[in-house]
Amino acid sequence: MNNPVGDQYQQETKYIRDKIPTNKLDWSTKQDIYKHYPKAKKIDLPSKEPRKTLALDEVIRSRKSIRRFSNEPISLTDLSYLLWACSGTERFERNFQFRTVPSAGGLYPIETYIVVNNVAKLNSGLYHYSIENHLLEELSVGDFGERIAEAALGQKMCMTAAVTFIWTAIFQRSKWKYLQRAYRYIYLDAGHIGAHISLSAVSLGLGSCQISAFYDEEVNEIVGVDGIQESTVYMSVVGKPAKID
Ligand SMILES: Cc1cc2nc3c(=O)[nH]c(=O)nc-3n(C[C@H](O)[C@H](O)[C@H](O)COP(=O)(O)O)c2cc1C
Repeated sequence: MNNPVGDQYQQETKYIRDKIPTNKLDWSTKQDIYKHYPKAKKIDLPSKEPRKTLALDEVIRSRKSIRRFSNEPISLTDLSYLLWACSGTERFERNFQFRTVPSAGGLYPIETYIVVNNVAKLNSGLYHYSIENHLLEELSVGDFGERIAEAALGQKMCMTAAVTFIWTAIFQRSKWKYLQRAYRYIYLDAGHIGAHISLSAVSLGLGSCQISAFYDEEVNEIVGVDGIQESTVYMSVVGKPAKID
């Protein structure tokens, strides 16, 4: 192939002095930055104040990818903290609700879904994280471990981890302002979220592994998104690390 799509994208979305594509913002078409499932059962999460966490320096020094998990559940309090730490709301300033993670233009294109496998006091199943209200929206109860592992190219850690995080992007939220360059920013935003999950997991004594090897449409089907307006961009598993003798 003479002009592979990735190479072409990288070249055609460069900002070049005096040649930045003009885009007069139409505020009437700005997307809502919160996705809602009005009919879903709402599940309150415990306070997002964590139990004692490790200091950042210790967390950075001990982070590594964990792929083997014990069969002990994680607590709902830890899940609550992880969700908040990777994309929850924090400060309210200039009439705007900012989050724990940075996002290009504050457009927050990423949505968080979780497949719960082993969390105390929470049924196994698929949930959406309501960022605005810090609660879970129950999408489907059941054991999704095998399906999500299969969709992640057979990576068994999705079956043994306590939770699999699935991050989708609603592309138009960012394209509204940044046009085609938005895709760069969307993946960078997802990277920040993955970093927050990996560090906050360690801070709670948990382990995580980030995942980009997955069959996109198979994960989209599990989550129930169309793969065009909204599509999976990143995943992580989190759980209690297995004790290695
Ligand atoms: C974007 C991204 C995608 C990754 N995808 C996978 C994956 O699908 N499966 C996996 O086992 N590890 C995956 N990893 C983990 C890397 O293999 C791991 O971070 C790397 O080997 C360095 O090891 P460390 O995390 O223990 O420092 C991914 C990491 C990143 C940042």
